[in-house]
Amino acid sequence: MQSQQIVAPGAEPEITSLHLFDQISDALLTQGFAVIPDALPTQMTSELYRYYRQLNATIFEEAGIGRKQHYHQNGRIRTDKVCWIDGTSETGRLWLDWLEMLKVHLNRRLFLGLFSIESHFAYYQKGDFYKRHLDAFRGESNRVVSLVTYLNPDWADSDGGELILYRDDNDKSGIKVLPRLGTLVIFLSEEFPHEVRPASKDRFSVASWFRINTSTADKIDPPR
Ligand code: OGA
Ligand code: MN
Repeated sequence: MQSQQIVAPGAEPEITSLHLFDQISDALLTQGFAVIPDALPTQMTSELYRYYRQLNATIFEEAGIGRKQHYHQNGRIRTDKVCWIDGTSETGRLWLDWLEMLKVHLNRRLFLGLFSIESHFAYYQKGDFYKRHLDAFRGESNRVVSLVTYLNPDWADSDGGELILYRDDNDKSGIKVLPRLGTLVIFLSEEFPHEVRPASKDRFSVASWFRINTSTADKIDPPR
């Protein structure tokens, strides 16, 4: 389904997706996840796609498990490369603004208390994988909601590279999602183990997380 798009007048074009945001909050409330094909506004998808393809491959880093001080590389769990998105490019700003609008919407509808956002492009070369994992550890982490979207046009079933989203620890079959352009997957970070299967060609995704603020007096978290 195509989401409703409103392009506000003014110098900075704004992309809002009110219908999509409602669909996402309803799904998070009732089942904790959503898989929505053709979800993103086409303007956003094409902007992300264009920007991603002109990024220089050298600025992608080996992905680590955890971030900043907890960062360590572990080739056995994941082999993709990532590039963190900040607001220094126009496209990065547009994307982070869109995520911010979704954050505000989720806080209003679901009272999640989401505080900050982090997002990266991920580049899975042919054969790369990310084994079954949770994005947050129950009880101790501050990642609450995970969102993944894909930038691969013309992706066939036989190309592989599925995201497999497991409903819980005991789920062995999971829900298979092909990484097709514009498809959006969103889920509660502590509840849904998931994995990325190897693909027969390069696979491009954008992963984002909404975090709560767990700062205490002696620890500033999330890192600035
Ligand atoms: C992740 C992740 C899924 C995907 O980066 O944590 O699970 O489909 N990505 O790229
Ligand atoms: Mn993940």
